[in-house]
Amino acid sequence: MTRNLELNGQPVTVAVPDDTERLLYALREQCDQIGPKFGCGVAQCGACTVLVDGVISRSCIVPLAAVPEGATVRTLDGLGTVDDPHPMQAAFIDKQAAQCAFCINGMIMGAVGWIESRMASGNSSVPSRAETADFLSGASEGNPFNYVCRCGAHNRILDAIHAAAVEMTS
Ligand code: FES
Ligand code: FES
Repeated sequence: MTRNLELNGQPVTVAVPDDTERLLYALREQCDQIGPKFGCGVAQCGACTVLVDGVISRSCIVPLAAVPEGATVRTLDGLGTVDDPHPMQAAFIDKQAAQCAFCINGMIMGAVGWIESRMASGNSSVPSRAETADFLSGASEGNPFNYVCRCGAHNRILDAIHAAAVEMTS
């Protein structure tokens, strides 16, 4: 099967022999995306997070066949550049919110998707630390996924998301 997608604003066509092939592998192996990582493979850690038509998605469990033809897919690779990072990327650097950084793709893409969806629904407030902690814990309404940092950088991750949210909502 094949899918024509808009990946980070560019048209791509991916083809897989097996309908159960996961989106993560198509992105990494056919589209040279190195942002989304394979962590757990069972939707538990968030390392593989991408946005599909704006929806936070765990690409390790999403079969390519379940991605709509023509869907927009955003990955960390296309979020910003070294010279012009997205506010979330700039905040993570400024707050030094990573140690090994394996989890950071999920933290950044999840938080971007969360704040953008809040704004799209008319909520342009800066989330409180408790709201952000709930989001990262999978406890906020409509966001069942949790985000795991094995290094224990959660406090700096909370700081970074807050700083980025201030920028994104201003
Ligand atoms: S690799 Fe997808 S959630 Fe862990
Ligand atoms: S910084 Fe290492 S897992 Fe989060």
